[in-house]
Amino acid sequence: MTNHKTRIAVFCSGSGSNFQAIFHALKKKQLNAEIVLCLSNRSQCGAMEFAHQNVIATVHLTEKQFASFDEFAAAMVGCLREQRIDIIVLAGYMRKVPDTVVVAFQDKIINIHPALLPKFGGEGMYGIYVHTAVLDAGETESGATVHLVNEEYDKGRILMQRKVPVLPEDTPETLAARVLECEHRLYPEALEKLLDEQNS
Ligand code: GRF
Repeated sequence: MTNHKTRIAVFCSGSGSNFQAIFHALKKKQLNAEIVLCLSNRSQCGAMEFAHQNVIATVHLTEKQFASFDEFAAAMVGCLREQRIDIIVLAGYMRKVPDTVVVAFQDKIINIHPALLPKFGGEGMYGIYVHTAVLDAGETESGATVHLVNEEYDKGRILMQRKVPVLPEDTPETLAARVLECEHRLYPEALEKLLDEQNS
């Protein structure tokens, strides 16, 4: 056991509703962990706005700012090291995390995917495409999956999964809304599980 407060970085590209759910859950449950950095490939998005409002450090980092991908990846690792980050939470980050970062933070990066992996995962399976595929396949249930991140899209060890029903009248949008609501409850629980695993 350690008294060290786990330092979390969230990576976001969009509205950041999962980031917000985790932020509030960490406070409510008084977990020994805090979000100290929001990293985004977009300088302006809901997640960055939320970080500013809550005095969480932000960094806008994109490949375009660097001469090569390797330099971009090295800068990302440098930034995470500088902020003494222990765990990375991907919350709607619409870029593949560079392998250099995955290797540097082995078993310390988690992601949430809006379906029941290993089904409906992999490259190109994100956002509304996932829910459209679920409906096209005639599935009667979908859900959310929190998994560790390795070098392959959506292939790391599954930490937690939760199901939601698919209703006959569902559109991709109504299903997406039901799954997102489920994500907001599941992601903080899965993060807590990871923190317990890391501290035991
Ligand atoms: C969620 O549906 C999540 O499953 C996926 O990206 C979306 C992020 O939404 N990885 P938000 O930015 O957390 O609102």
